[in-house]
Amino acid sequence: KEAILLVGGKGTRLRPLTVHTPKPMVPAAGVPFLTHQLARARAAGVEHIVLATSYLAEVFEPYFGDGSSLGLSIDYVTEREPLGTGGAIRNVASRLTSGPDEPVLIFNGDILTGLDIRALVTSHAASGADVSLHLTRVEDPRAFGLVPTDGTGRVTAFLEKPQTPEEIVTDQINAGAYIFRRSVIDTIPADRPVSVERETFPGLLASGAHLQGMVDSTYWLDLGTPQAFVRGSADLVLGRAPSPAVPGRCGDRLVLPTASVAPDAKLTGGTVIGDRAVIGEGARIDGSTVLADAVVEPHAVITDSLIGAGARIGSRTVLAGAVIGDGAHVGADNELRDGVRVWCGATLPDASVRFSSDQ
Ligand code: GDD
Ligand code: MG
Repeated sequence: KEAILLVGGKGTRLRPLTVHTPKPMVPAAGVPFLTHQLARARAAGVEHIVLATSYLAEVFEPYFGDGSSLGLSIDYVTEREPLGTGGAIRNVASRLTSGPDEPVLIFNGDILTGLDIRALVTSHAASGADVSLHLTRVEDPRAFGLVPTDGTGRVTAFLEKPQTPEEIVTDQINAGAYIFRRSVIDTIPADRPVSVERETFPGLLASGAHLQGMVDSTYWLDLGTPQAFVRGSADLVLGRAPSPAVPGRCGDRLVLPTASVAPDAKLTGGTVIGDRAVIGEGARIDGSTVLADAVVEPHAVITDSLIGAGARIGSRTVLAGAVIGDGAHVGADNELRDGVRVWCGATLPDASVRFSSDQ
């Protein structure tokens, strides 16, 4: 079995963490997020993976090599210009070894899910569909591809990120995992940008192709925003999200072996402390990710936040739902909340930002 992973997006919603690192390489539960997807694909019997890269393409191969450490054979294909999701799929066709009627798995590179990949393969074979799609239900589907189906699960429309209320016809969304009959991939136009969601799926439906949805309500999260990314990383540590690649945890936190944590620091809620990071005495960190070489000074209080590589958080500073870029320095006695982003390398002086008005 073989699979294509789409990992070429710019990860704009995750900035500044994606300024130097493509989204799939940002660490979740101690390893680049992509590792979890690769390990899950391998566990489902996938042996050959083609990574469709574009943005910061050069960092993938040095890390994963030929894939043998994960029991995989990995090929890398880089787009000269971003080709979009459909164009990226078409662009790797020459690397596929499957025959025209064989199934090819395709995954968005930012999805954390407990999807039973084997069940999707089985359902694909049983329905004889041209394309099978993993669907999930969400409360607010507007940021996703809406996929209504008939009583048999056959897809009746594909509405990517609907703009008008009339288009919100279902809470079933495209969960970012497909199986294409190999020959369908060859029908996507080559050498120009194509969106699989806006062009290929609607086009296939218009031409009468059989698209089959499989609703699966297991754990599912798109890690495209900082809030979702910290949540997903914590859920991996807490065992709520399944992955064979979590490097071992202790209770409800994960401290990488080269990190140094003061004995009275309190780490909870799936917090991850990266390589060589230093956590000072009395610090309290909940549901957060601290990347490699970051320093958290004594008595800082951090919740639901992402601290970039080599960043420094000053004493008694409070972070709640904040994103701190690589190498940034937040001085002591600051208070940053609710989606605040500090850019890579920026410096905030001591006691310069306060949230409450009574100071
Ligand atoms: N190689 C390559 N080239 N990959 C790309 C490109 C490109 O030009 N553009 C995007 N990708 C990759 C991204 O890296 C990501 O892994 C995947 O394609 C999807 O792109 P996102 O930017 O994350 O899309 P989205 O989250 O807004 O929407 C997509 O995912 C939703 C589920 O999370 C769509 O597929 C929606 O229909 C779906 O509901
Ligand atoms: Mg996404």
